[in-house]
Amino acid sequence: MNDPFLVSARELTKTFTIGSLQVHALRGVNFELRQGEFSALVGPSGSGKSTLLNLIGALDSISGGELMVLGHDISKLSKEERARLRLSSLGFVFQAYNLVPVLTAVENVEFVLELQGMGSEKRERAMAILGELGLAELAGRRPAELSGGQQQRVAVARAVVSRPKLVLADEPTANLDGPNAQSLMELMLNLNRRHGMTFLFATHDPRIMNLAGRVITLTDGVITCDQVQ
Ligand SMILES: Nc1ncnc2c1ncn2[C@@H]1O[C@H](COP(=O)(O)OP(=O)(O)OP(=O)(O)O)[C@@H](O)[C@H]1O
Ligand SMILES: [Mg+2]
Repeated sequence: MNDPFLVSARELTKTFTIGSLQVHALRGVNFELRQGEFSALVGPSGSGKSTLLNLIGALDSISGGELMVLGHDISKLSKEERARLRLSSLGFVFQAYNLVPVLTAVENVEFVLELQGMGSEKRERAMAILGELGLAELAGRRPAELSGGQQQRVAVARAVVSRPKLVLADEPTANLDGPNAQSLMELMLNLNRRHGMTFLFATHDPRIMNLAGRVITLTDGVITCDQVQ
């Protein structure tokens, strides 16, 4: 419990089985993430970035090694404990957004605050974040009525609105033009600087890599470069 790191992985492996085929997505990953980092996970398509984020986010089970997240050995947590950890301390931006289709943009964002038991101020909090991302006028629309880039920004708003300790974001700027990517990164940098929130991005985007304090490169399921910049 005295772990100085938010995340620490030791010889972490993940193998997927498809019929008789085994896919070794992670082959022994070792790294630590400290509180307050703003770090990018980069590497070719298929190198294991999303797999690693999913494991840290307690969304999938590890195959081997050890993974500590916020003081918890996540292979030892029950399904309910993992759900509680995600709700209390983690924000996740999925590569495919995963917004709730029947909820409006603002309802998607405030949903997590509702689950945490926040009262009437949740609408104000959700609208403030949407406003910072230029989405205030679209707050009443459902995901199907938004463009890909707009849905992506709603997904980021949802991940950060409760100010979780650790935000895991899978390609958060993939569908955004220059100005929108810029405002999204400024929002995340501000949350990082003002509130000490820790960010780990999987990204191919040089705009994020340039802002990141550290760039971790995955190649074929192992870390091949880990650079503070
Ligand atoms: N559910 C799954 N079942 C089987 N194989 C999977 C599954 N998820 C991922 N893989 C495989 O694991 C490897 C790593 O995939 P992953 O999605 O982590 O890559 P990535 O680095 O995020 O790639 P991209 O940049 O394209 O998003 C790939 O070979 C992929 O085909
Ligand atoms: Mg991916």
